[in-house]
Amino acid sequence: MARILTGIQSTGRPHLGNLLGAMLPGLALAQSTTHEAFFFIADLHTLTTIKDVASRQEYTYATAAAWLSLGLDPNQVVFYRQSRVPEVCELVWYLSCFAPYPMLANAHAFKDKSQRLSTVNAGLFTYPVLMAADILLYNTEVVPVGQDQLQHLEITRDIANSFNHQCGDTFTLPEAKLSPTTPTVPGVDGQKMSKSYKNTIDVFLPEKALKKAVMSIKTDSTPLGQPKDPDRCTVFRLYSMLAPEAQIVTMRRRYQAGNYGYGHAKQELLAVILDRFAEARQRFKAYITDLPAVDAQLALGEAKARKIAVCTLEKVRSRLGY
Ligand code: ADP
Ligand code: TRP
Repeated sequence: MARILTGIQSTGRPHLGNLLGAMLPGLALAQSTTHEAFFFIADLHTLTTIKDVASRQEYTYATAAAWLSLGLDPNQVVFYRQSRVPEVCELVWYLSCFAPYPMLANAHAFKDKSQRLSTVNAGLFTYPVLMAADILLYNTEVVPVGQDQLQHLEITRDIANSFNHQCGDTFTLPEAKLSPTTPTVPGVDGQKMSKSYKNTIDVFLPEKALKKAVMSIKTDSTPLGQPKDPDRCTVFRLYSMLAPEAQIVTMRRRYQAGNYGYGHAKQELLAVILDRFAEARQRFKAYITDLPAVDAQLALGEAKARKIAVCTLEKVRSRLGY
């Protein structure tokens, strides 16, 4: 069975943008595919930016709990933490010796930061090699990624080709599968929702805190009585990404008719979030207060992943004469 694999960095608690833009489409793919799916939390990649242990662990667990709460079935998907398969680090060294320096120096993620080289660590420089190791360790055939990751896939293929050429056929050459473009979810300030802009809505927050986030969505100052333009309002844009079609039509009419305040719209948005994620919120609460249960779910995938990793490394070592 062909194998698909994708990694998710744990750089923060997942927000509505991550859920609608990446996690739910990823789950749909895993459920629909005839492939064997590997989803992992790239918590070693996260170390390039997050040094605080407690934060990194919190984000890793929150990311895992979010996946599980949204319906990831660890018996169907091989679900694991990258750091729990340490073989990947040994493979990074071997692959590094087949990765031309200029190729890594030209990688966007590194180049973007190279104006301020003093702030760049070597981990950020070798980031694409760790990603190549993630992929090649499991003989991955298909890697679903966003546009921004295509260059990393090219680097992976180049490294695999170079190794195969010099040491004999060892690695499967992976193909990138461009994830379908999902609409950009706006944050509470109307810009793209992103951890870096501190404008996120975390649907797993307790109700009171979630309500506070929804109520903080910026709106214009059109008076209550006047008609409002739904398409220019962040509340309506978010609502239309979550509510059933008939409710979206009703809200659109209310905006256009006037006498409908943004406060009402926010209440309805909150209600739809609470409804849509009711089950997931409950499960998240259970997982996040019982981390050994999250560990147990991850352990299933970690055992499966590790078995494959050990075999691949045996082959690689033998090719290299170690
Ligand atoms: P952030 O910008 O919060 O740091 P990441 O870069 O970690 O988010 O994104 C992880 C995944 O979530 C990416 O695949 C990206 O496509 C998706 N994503 C993040 N923010 C949004 C958004 N506002 N709308 C749609 N998808 C998003
Ligand atoms: N670099 C990817 C990102 O930031 C995450 C990632 C790490 C990954 N290893 C991977 C994605 C292997 C696909 C395959 O989104």
